[in-house]
Amino acid sequence: MAQRNALLVGGNRLKLGLFGANCSSGRSYITAPERWDASWEHNVRLAQMADAAGLECLVPIARWKGYGGASNPNGTSWESITWACGLLAATTRINVFATVHVPLIHPVVAAKQLVTADHIGRGRLGLNVVCGWNDDEFQMFGVTKKEHDDRYEQGAEWWTIITRICAGEGPFDFLGKHYQLRGVECSPRPYGGQAPIMMNAGSSPAGRAFA
Ligand SMILES: Cc1cc2nc3c(=O)[nH]c(=O)nc-3n(C[C@H](O)[C@H](O)[C@H](O)COP(=O)(O)O)c2cc1C
Repeated sequence: MAQRNALLVGGNRLKLGLFGANCSSGRSYITAPERWDASWEHNVRLAQMADAAGLECLVPIARWKGYGGASNPNGTSWESITWACGLLAATTRINVFATVHVPLIHPVVAAKQLVTADHIGRGRLGLNVVCGWNDDEFQMFGVTKKEHDDRYEQGAEWWTIITRICAGEGPFDFLGKHYQLRGVECSPRPYGGQAPIMMNAGSSPAGRAFA
């Protein structure tokens, strides 16, 4: 079976990606009329151009509401796992990440969704794990934000559950501080039987230890 996430594991030593195309304004806070319009058509065209140009990956932002103001950056956005499914189906080489908020998506749900996306992309899915930082987003879900380092502790449990599911360990029980789960199983396993490549971009000591 072919190497999963081949462009990121091998290939060019310098990897290039595009970040934030799933959200209106992308990573800019400008009011210029030609700022990024994150329509689905634009996302597909951009992904196919990046694929043809040989870029290694596309990384979405996990964002549930805009930042407000005149241009309301990220006020319009596509949910990142379903966005990845669509772009994996529309491309052939490039890796497409999903950016997932640990406290907002249950790991068993996330694992099932990620495995589905991964088969659509034949092993080209990647996962950007984020533990969350925006209070206004947490409030939308009725979730209380944990203390900074506890968020990464929960992230470590979350990722352990996902990797055990991806390794085909089920049914298993997981009795942690943040999750108490019984009889966990999931079929199929990811493409090629290995968890998708994972990244995390925290810069604090706890964030770096987690990554
Ligand atoms: C490249 C990059 C991408 C990130 N993407 C997201 C994101 O999509 N959604 C989100 O809520 N946080 C995102 N973050 C925020 C991080 O997950 C983290 O909360 C932040 O970097 C602070 O982490 P720290 O307190 O460990 O330094 C991103 C950060 C970086 C550097």
